[in-house]
Amino acid sequence: MIIKVLGSAAGGGFPQWNCNCRNCVSVRAGAEGFRARTQSSLAVSRDGVNWALLNASPDLREQIANTPALHADPRVCLRHSPIKAAVLTNGDVDHIIGLINLREAQPFSVFASDRVLATVNANSVFQVLAPALVPRIEMKLDTPFNLEGGGVDLGLTVEAFAVPGKVALYLEDASAGGNYGSREGDTIGLKVTDPSEKKSFFYIPGCAEIDDELAERLKGASTVFFDGTLFTDNEMIEQGLLNKTGARMGHISMSGPAGSIAAFKKLGVGRLVYVHINNSNPALDENSDARKAIDAAGWEVGYDGMEVRL
Ligand code: MLT
Ligand code: MN
Ligand code: ZN
Repeated sequence: MIIKVLGSAAGGGFPQWNCNCRNCVSVRAGAEGFRARTQSSLAVSRDGVNWALLNASPDLREQIANTPALHADPRVCLRHSPIKAAVLTNGDVDHIIGLINLREAQPFSVFASDRVLATVNANSVFQVLAPALVPRIEMKLDTPFNLEGGGVDLGLTVEAFAVPGKVALYLEDASAGGNYGSREGDTIGLKVTDPSEKKSFFYIPGCAEIDDELAERLKGASTVFFDGTLFTDNEMIEQGLLNKTGARMGHISMSGPAGSIAAFKKLGVGRLVYVHINNSNPALDENSDARKAIDAAGWEVGYDGMEVRL
């Protein structure tokens, strides 16, 4: 299996268009130790020919341009794309808007939970993806399925499972109390398996907490791409950017007793890669203490163009 990190930033990207935090100013200035990042997405393929997107970022057009494996192949046909499927993990802007880039009558399949499909179905702009060519397929939770689309079997299975989290920001219902009307299926993780090689990885770009169920699921996994939004829960407030904690946004932090570094210590995962990294995260500075702490804990910070082979 080949996994490519198309975009490693959280919603807004890095730098974010309207942000003058230390990180955004530094990366715009080309400072040493900073690299620009597009919004959150992976691509996966068993054979290097046909690919599935795991989330479709608003930056998808640029991501395709930067990734020769995703280019239209003139040897195949006049109109062609190696992208045969897109699998969505939530309804965030950073995870669904890239679908709009995949118009122009190209067949592929969209897979999402009932909750996320309802959002896509409710927004008429997504009808630019012709229903006859782009089926929208509901992923049942905890039920592995064969990944196929555009008339191609990708030779991979996908299992979607609910993780602790929150409904997309623009769907929050303030009157619904505690978790803003979030329900199971609003935020999911994916387990992608190549049955022929008996290899799997997990992709969980949004997660509020590693509860016992999730810990049990991830125990002993070979590779996990995981929510790296914030380093500390209150960093956006401390930097004066936004009056919200990570917990309020549905994102676990990297550091702290309840953070992901601590939670994964006991799980014996082979390779741990942070993705969906917010522009406020001090670990975006390769020379920071935060980055040193991540390195020391055995985590990698994913970057655009990173490739992992299993
Ligand atoms: C998130 O993951 O919390 C969202 O991407 C935030 C946003 O919509 O920018
Ligand atoms: Mn997001
Ligand atoms: Zn910023």
